[in-house]
Amino acid sequence: MRMVDLIEKKRDGHELTKEEIYFAIEGYTNGDIPDYQMSALAMAIFFQDMTTNERAELTMAMVKSGDQIDLSAIEGVKVDKHSTGGVGDKTTIALAPLVAAVGVPVAKMSGRGLGHTGGTIDKLEAIPGFSVEITTQQFTELVNKNKLAVVGQTGNLTPADKKLYSLRDVTATVNSIPLIASSIMSKKIASGADAIVLDVKTGSGAFMKQLDQSKQLAQAMVEIGNRLGRETMAIISDMNQPLGYTVGNALEVKEAIEMLRGGGPDDLRELCLTLGSQMVFLAKKAASIEEARQQLENAIADGTALEALKVFIEAQNGAPSVVDHPETLPEASYKVEVLAKQAGTVSAIVADKIGTAAMLLGAGRATKDSEIDLAVGIVLHKKIGDSVRAGEAIATLHANQENVSNVIEMVHAAYSFTDGPIDKPTLIYDEIH
Ligand code: URA
Repeated sequence: MRMVDLIEKKRDGHELTKEEIYFAIEGYTNGDIPDYQMSALAMAIFFQDMTTNERAELTMAMVKSGDQIDLSAIEGVKVDKHSTGGVGDKTTIALAPLVAAVGVPVAKMSGRGLGHTGGTIDKLEAIPGFSVEITTQQFTELVNKNKLAVVGQTGNLTPADKKLYSLRDVTATVNSIPLIASSIMSKKIASGADAIVLDVKTGSGAFMKQLDQSKQLAQAMVEIGNRLGRETMAIISDMNQPLGYTVGNALEVKEAIEMLRGGGPDDLRELCLTLGSQMVFLAKKAASIEEARQQLENAIADGTALEALKVFIEAQNGAPSVVDHPETLPEASYKVEVLAKQAGTVSAIVADKIGTAAMLLGAGRATKDSEIDLAVGIVLHKKIGDSVRAGEAIATLHANQENVSNVIEMVHAAYSFTDGPIDKPTLIYDEIH
């Protein structure tokens, strides 16, 4: 088999066979196929697309390029949740203990990663003492006992995806539905879950800005998952403004705790209940989505979800007292209000800009070796549809630096105002099965 023939076949719009896809992925991972040929194939896929069969084979070839996590020692149906990423997305911190409280085993492997804030692990590490450095055996035991554990990424998962993603980044081939879908799904499938709930974001702060593109991506991932024997569904949710009011690691943990206490922002609670009821249903802990939702609402109301969070934190050496005393989480030295320059109704908050502003304060990593400051971030006071008086605070910066004038300007640049009323944006656009 020759790579040049595969490139030509895809360039001309034909379907690659399983053997051809494995030849390309194995050869590229072990260095036999050079970057320039893989780039050409990625570009051919970008223009010619892939069939559902090809997408599933590509996903599996990437899964098989590295280790696969075996969760078979964990009892019950393991359901994973994946979000395509957004600003202020602290869903996992609230959702994991929430579904664990109703008996769904959550065996979460998480990363740090680059971005506006840290990843789930960084956020959890804002809790004093919390550690994700647990052995595989401890991980299994904790999930069996408490229904929830989070471990840092171990092993060599999907090396083909890592190499191909870096190549796509510099060859203008990231934005391709078959390549994105197989990239995300390869990581989910290698992580060992039996069923997968996807939260595909749409809007200005999302990877996919247009609703129809987000639906296509969701459809592609759901098809891959189901074809590969993992029951998969997707929710399409809004990212035209940050989720909730907080952006920043400790600040987001605080907001997640408030939600589990029965308060917190409406959008965060609604998203957690929507995703959570799908997880509970897929885990076969409820006969219908409505029943699943009722179980989750009860777990918030009677305090079992909050208790599950405390048990989880304590089991991983963290201080469970943060749940009752969130003021003991890391706190920034300076609080600086951002004041509205004009009166009006908030018509848009460009989530990416708020994310970048949080990163400028030190909440996220610009490169993989950057240190992050867990205490800093932004608390929004106004969201789309809210009215604002001139001079009123639209946000508060939590900073560990005195000079934040550039961050203030960035927050101003994120907000747009209009006269007259504006509807609150839709939160859940669709669900895809
Ligand atoms: N996220 C991924 O993991 N892969 C992609 O290709 C795009 C976004």
